[in-house]
Amino acid sequence: ASDTRLYQPNGKSPLQIFVRAKKKINDIYGEIEEYVLETTTFINALHAEAEIVDKAERELFESYVYKVAAIREVLQRDHMKVAFFGRTSNGKSSVINAMLREKILPSGIGHTTNCFCQVEGNDGGEAYLMTEGSAEKLNVVNIKQLANALCQEKLCESSLVRIFWPRERCSLLRDDVVFVDSPGVDVSANLDDWIDNHCLNADVFVLVLNAESTMTRAEKQFFHTVSQKLSKPNIFILNNRWDASANEPECQESVKSQHTERCIDFLTKELKVSNEREAAERVFFVSARETLQARIEEAKGNPPHMGAIAEGFQIRYFEFQDFERKFEECISKSAVKTKFQQHSSRGKSVSGDMRSMLDNIFERITIFRNLKQDQKTMLTDRIQGTETQMMQVTRDMKLKIHTMVEEVEEKVSKALNE
Ligand code: GTP
Ligand code: MG
Repeated sequence: ASDTRLYQPNGKSPLQIFVRAKKKINDIYGEIEEYVLETTTFINALHAEAEIVDKAERELFESYVYKVAAIREVLQRDHMKVAFFGRTSNGKSSVINAMLREKILPSGIGHTTNCFCQVEGNDGGEAYLMTEGSAEKLNVVNIKQLANALCQEKLCESSLVRIFWPRERCSLLRDDVVFVDSPGVDVSANLDDWIDNHCLNADVFVLVLNAESTMTRAEKQFFHTVSQKLSKPNIFILNNRWDASANEPECQESVKSQHTERCIDFLTKELKVSNEREAAERVFFVSARETLQARIEEAKGNPPHMGAIAEGFQIRYFEFQDFERKFEECISKSAVKTKFQQHSSRGKSVSGDMRSMLDNIFERITIFRNLKQDQKTMLTDRIQGTETQMMQVTRDMKLKIHTMVEEVEEKVSKALNE
């Protein structure tokens, strides 16, 4: 609570790290694409006019055009992904709703999550869902209808339903965060499939526990498998339903420290995914239901405490916001690394290949020019006119290639280093 910046609603979100990086790398690739296209035209001309460039070289250069276009397409779709796991009824869907500030995912009795549900932002103003293996967009008029649609669809527990929600309704969706809700880890025997199908590209995992009980074997086992398949996954632990502790204030502190110790041990000694200091920043005591209610009240213009369930609302509400801030920092940094590092090195290697090829062509042009100069002395006036022209063309080519190589090299290495 000492960090007041944390709680300013208008404080700049750490998600902007990812948003800015994505914009920048997209711009860079836009420029690289322009260069590649321009250079290809030039190379093709060299092939057609003077045969300085052979067919294989020309084709190789054209392959860069496709490579760059393919990377650009992947880049457009890159996002930050967070996946929620935990035992049935711990409040996974409620946590996601609280973060989205709206009751989007069905939760509670009769609304057990029975398959994977992914919530992602949609640019058009409409909300719709799509089931796996079908291209049909099922329009969602209201949230009740969404809940019914999810109940009625006969879906396998490890299949995926994608819910597209208008970006402008939630800042996290606007900034390209994608949420994945899951069925309880206690209800499935296919945890390996779950991980292979839904977790390998997740940037952050949130384990939602029930603060009223202890972590179960199923929950632990699931994360053991995750950390075997992924190196050092980012895991946050939410001890949810902490509002229940208000009923027993006398043992609140001891329960909290017991849970904290167990969670930290789990992250450090068992999973070995973080050290003590990092792990202490990953464990929170919250009430998802209360946070959601508070935010719904806030949206109506009421004070958030109108959503309070029990004593101590303010502390729990702050803790939820603290979780969100640390989560945002973690996910944006992780996603920049995992998503863009690869694209950066590919960009570097393409521009490196292009450079050495252009250098090579440049050398050939120089030789070609010298050769022509020798011949020139022996030529008649009539041919001399053409030769001067040819000289001019090669001089231009040389200049153009030179500046192009320099520019590509300079821009790419500058941008990629940044
Ligand atoms: P499954 O989808 O069935 O696996 O459950 P889930 O983990 O998604 O839980 P869900 O969000 O559906 O919540 C289950 C019930 O617990 C709902 O009735 C919620 O309103 C309630 N609930 C969730 N979070 C809290 C909380 O922090 N405090 C209290 N008191 N109730 C909560
Ligand atoms: Mg659920």
